[in-house]
Formats: sequence, C-alpha cells, structure tokens
Amino acid sequence: MNQVYEKLMNAYRCFKEQIDFSPKIGLVLGSGLGSFAQEVDVKAVLPYSQIDGFPVSTAPGHAGRFVFGFIKDVPVVLMQGRIHYYEGYDITDVVLPERLMKLMGAEVLFLTNAAGGFGDGFTPGTLMMITDHISCFAPNPLVGQNIEELGPRFPDMSDVYDKELQQVIRQVAVRERIDLREGVYAQLTGPSFETPAEIHMLKSLGASACGMSTVVEAIAANHMGMKICGISCITNMAAGFSDRKQTQEEVMETADRVEKVFCRLVRESILAIGRQILAS
Ligand code: HPA
Repeated sequence: MNQVYEKLMNAYRCFKEQIDFSPKIGLVLGSGLGSFAQEVDVKAVLPYSQIDGFPVSTAPGHAGRFVFGFIKDVPVVLMQGRIHYYEGYDITDVVLPERLMKLMGAEVLFLTNAAGGFGDGFTPGTLMMITDHISCFAPNPLVGQNIEELGPRFPDMSDVYDKELQQVIRQVAVRERIDLREGVYAQLTGPSFETPAEIHMLKSLGASACGMSTVVEAIAANHMGMKICGISCITNMAAGFSDRKQTQEEVMETADRVEKVFCRLVRESILAIGRQILAS
C-alpha cells in the first residue's frame, strides 16, 4: 500500500480506538483563535502524540491536539495546533490531520490563520475571508503516487473555497456587524518573513494576504471532496507596507486583540453552516 495512505489509515485506526465521535465540521485554529475551545462543549481530546506516526506541532501558541465537541448542536473537531511545512515535516505529513478529519466524518473544513496583509485598506486586525489562493510558492501535497481512495490524480481547483459557504459567512458578518474583507491568500514556506520585493510580487499577482499555512491543507481537503472556507486574521502589514519590521510578537499581539471578534465570527459562521448541514 502507498506509504502516505498507510500512515493515514493507521492514524484513523488510532483515532477509532480512542474516540467515539463523528464531527461534521473540522476547524483549524490559527494564531488568534487559541481560546476558541471555550466555545465548545468538549466531549473528548486527543493529543497528536497519542496517534501513531502523527506529526507534533512545534510552532508557538499551537497546543497539538484534536478537541471534539459541540457548538450548540453542531458536532465539530478542532485542531488546536496545525502542522507547518517550515517545521521540517514532509508536505504529506503537514496535511495528514485534514485528511484524517475527513475520515472522521467532517464534510466541511473551516480554515483560519494569521496573515500578513497588503490588500487595499487593510490594517492590523482586519479580518479577511479567503476567496481563492495562490499555491505555487509552496510544495503541492498531492505530488507523488496518487491515492485513488482519496481523490483523482488531477483534481479541479476552480472552486476551492465553497461559494455557498462564502455567502453564509458574508451574511453572518453583516448580521453581527463585523467588518469582513475578502481576498486571495498566498502561502509561502516560511519560516522567514517575506521581503518587500516578494510582497510586491504577490500583490501584483492578485493576492491580498500571505502566510505560511492553509493553502496546502485546502488542496488536500479539496482533493478529498471537502467543502472549504477560510478566514485570515491580518495580524500585521506585510513587508514594505509599514515602517515596522515583521515579528512574531506583533502577530501574537494583534491576534490577542482581535481574538474576541474573530471567535464570534467563526462561532456564528459554524452555527449557520452546521444548521445547513444538519438540515440536509
Ligand atoms: N508573513 C507571513 N506569514 C505571516 C505574516 C507575514 O507577514 N504574519 C502572520 N503570518
């Protein structure tokens, strides 16, 4: 059997042995949503370290565990801590958790992240719904023998971020009076921040924000047929768009400042999306 698939099935077996829970929505918590688990009526927790062969996130502010529970009546699984390519893992390990969440039962993948912003009118603290992405500066997680059990060799990517989910999130933002911008997110490998010339290039390519995650996860999830949506918290202006240098401290500072409203937008969006799924 394909080694990547074997690892995934092994992880799934480990999950089944320890957890009896079937989530409908998988949520990846980026910096700024660390406290989101408080929104959840927690039923079970599974540290990544208790899953055979699983990568363990080492990034600051990333706990490294799955949290299972309900937001009202919507069954969810949260990833408290994602795996980043810059930590040194194979790209197939980086997307293993998203693939596993699909096998757990999640139909929807809700991605969140902290990002550097350069869209018109963006300031630190802006929330940006991801409408599309640019993947070509990060390795593609589907390179290698295709796993036919998961999806096709050449998956379509014309609609990665589900249009209906985008509309639901837009409506929630209006109702909640949350200023929500929209834009294209570009993933680079990190861990170094970008140069002004790189940001200039990304902006001229049509991006409004960039970061070190999310896109590869969306590719793997789209390959498996999940419905995907995503929101970036613009924690800082990207290189060349402010006099400040990019630092992890500013990322965390802004993420903390915006956390409450970010949590509210995500919680209300999940409830609205969950209602649709549970009704169908
Ligand atoms: N660049 C890349 N990743 C980031 C940034 C940034 O400016 N801010 C938060 N994550």
